[in-house]
Amino acid sequence: MYEFSRGPLVWIAFLIFFTGSFFRIVWMIYTAKKEKVVLPYINAKYGFRSILHWVIPFGSVNMRLRPAFTIISFLFHFCLLITPIFTLGHILLWKQSWGVSWWNLPEGLTNIMAIIVVLSILFLILRRIADPTVRFVTSWSDYLLLIVVVAPFVTGILAYYQAFDYDTAITIHIWTGAIWLAAIPFTRLIHMIMFPFTRAYMGSEFGYVRNAKDW
Ligand code: HEM
Ligand code: HEM
Repeated sequence: MYEFSRGPLVWIAFLIFFTGSFFRIVWMIYTAKKEKVVLPYINAKYGFRSILHWVIPFGSVNMRLRPAFTIISFLFHFCLLITPIFTLGHILLWKQSWGVSWWNLPEGLTNIMAIIVVLSILFLILRRIADPTVRFVTSWSDYLLLIVVVAPFVTGILAYYQAFDYDTAITIHIWTGAIWLAAIPFTRLIHMIMFPFTRAYMGSEFGYVRNAKDW
């Protein structure tokens, strides 16, 4: 099982992630072209201006109105994206398989960043339960998605600390990591890829057409 997980499974997961995301972008461009009012509205200046406002913490009114959520959301996304790229265990595997390597973050720090992701997900789950406006639009699939997102971080920490038999722990970790990657093109997690496009469109429509801000 370990051999399959370490080899073909990782390949399959990356393949689904890249081809799935590619086809989502192709499909988005195809549908946008059919709409008369989408592509002609896109304007580089207003598009980039909007993206910039939304990727800078507290760059939008909405973020300033909810400071606690904003801090948690930015910290969560930062740790979520940076930890897997700079974890020593991952870099060693790339070196073993492909002979490529890059610098890693200290293990103590990746540990803390992984724990920040886990705590942030707990916060997002509690928020969906406790906040009536969010609860109203929440279904079981929203919780499932949060579990999918957090799973490789929980299992990565368990494997690192060798909480139980290492081979079992790392195999479970690789499966949760593969599901994480493969889920992105088919779920709301596609916002990772779509974010610049949707933001550029909103920024253009508000700035270029309505002469207003969208942040
Ligand atoms: C799919 C292929 C993957 C493989 C083969 C893999 C493999 C590994 C290995 C070998 C370790 C080191 C465990 C140790 O120290 O003994 C590790 C740790 C870890 N992995 Fe993965 N992983 C994969 C995917 C992912 C993904 C997609 C994520 C997160 C999005 C992730 C997050 C982590 C974390 C947070 C740690 C622990 C880091 C720490 O506590 O310092 N992994 N992984
Ligand atoms: C660099 C790319 C990404 C950007 C710009 C981005 C942006 C956003 C934004 C704007 C939100 C809305 C909530 C908020 O205002 O904070 C959000 C929520 C979220 N994102 Fe991302 N994201 C990115 C990548 C990812 C990735 C790779 C994942 C996981 C695989 C992810 C998981 C989530 C989750 C779990 C939520 C909260 C959903 C909930 O409340 O149930 N994001 N993201």
